Parts: sequence; C-alpha cells; structure tokens
Amino acid sequence: MTTNTDVSRRSLILIGGAGSVLALAACSTPDESPGSAPADSSAPDPSPDSSGTESAAPGASAEIAKLADIPVGGSVAAELDGKPILISQPTAGSIVAFSAICTHQGCVVNPAQDTLDCPCHGSRYDAATGEVLDGPAPLPLEKVTVAVSGESVVAG
Ligand code: FES
Repeated sequence: MTTNTDVSRRSLILIGGAGSVLALAACSTPDESPGSAPADSSAPDPSPDSSGTESAAPGASAEIAKLADIPVGGSVAAELDGKPILISQPTAGSIVAFSAICTHQGCVVNPAQDTLDCPCHGSRYDAATGEVLDGPAPLPLEKVTVAVSGESVVAG
C-alpha cells in the first residue's frame, strides 16, 4: 500500500540529490569541483616566515634584535612570533621585553626615550618595568621572556 508513496519519495530524493550535484558543479570552476585535489598540491607552504628573515636552525633561537641597536636607557620595537614587542635596555647589558599591545584598548605602543607611549589615548609605560605611568591603561604591559646570546637578543 505504500509503494506509490515510497517511490515518489525516493524519486524526489534522487532528483533532489542530482540537482544539488548539478548546482554545485555549475557554481564551481574546474579547479574547485567537489572532491578534486588542490590545483597544485606540490606547491610550497603558502605561509612563509612573515618577517622575511631566514629561519633559525632547529634548536637555535632566532635573533629578535641586535643588542647594539637597543640604546642604554631606551628601547626598540621588534617582533616575536609575529607579535609586536618592545625591548628595553635599562642599564648596559640588562634587557627586558614587553608586549607592545596597550592594555587599554589594544593599540601598538611605541618606544620613546625611557617610556613606552601609546599613540591612541596617551597611556605611558615605564620602559624598564612596563608599569603604567599615565593612564587610561589599567594594567602594566605584559612581560615577554627574552635572553641575550652573544650580540643578539633572542627568545627566552
Ligand atoms: Fe593605548 Fe588607549 S589603547 S591608551
């Protein structure tokens, strides 16, 4: 008693399925057809080191900055793992680093003499400690662990 109804449902499902495949095929370019491999699966990884520098040997830390480029009593902007950081040298040979992301609303903080200044709303941080000198920033800059290796500052 259910054969006509079942056949009709099956037919509709099959027709609907075929229609979906046709619709997908019509909307895709030859390289994007369902189930096909990427156009060039042997292509190199499309996400190379964004810093443009050569990768360090396995086990070695890559140079973040040259020690000689960081003024004693001052700081420089750098990048670690693609994130902006600030590296300060409060006294000769002692290095500290902080995230350059302002704790107020996330702007990138810049080095300025013995302070680290946010251009967005005027917060100022102590370059030696990362503590807030002038708000509206509510918290110190986040510390980043670095180390000195020879003449280079490297990830700690
Ligand atoms: Fe830095 Fe507002 S985002 S002071």
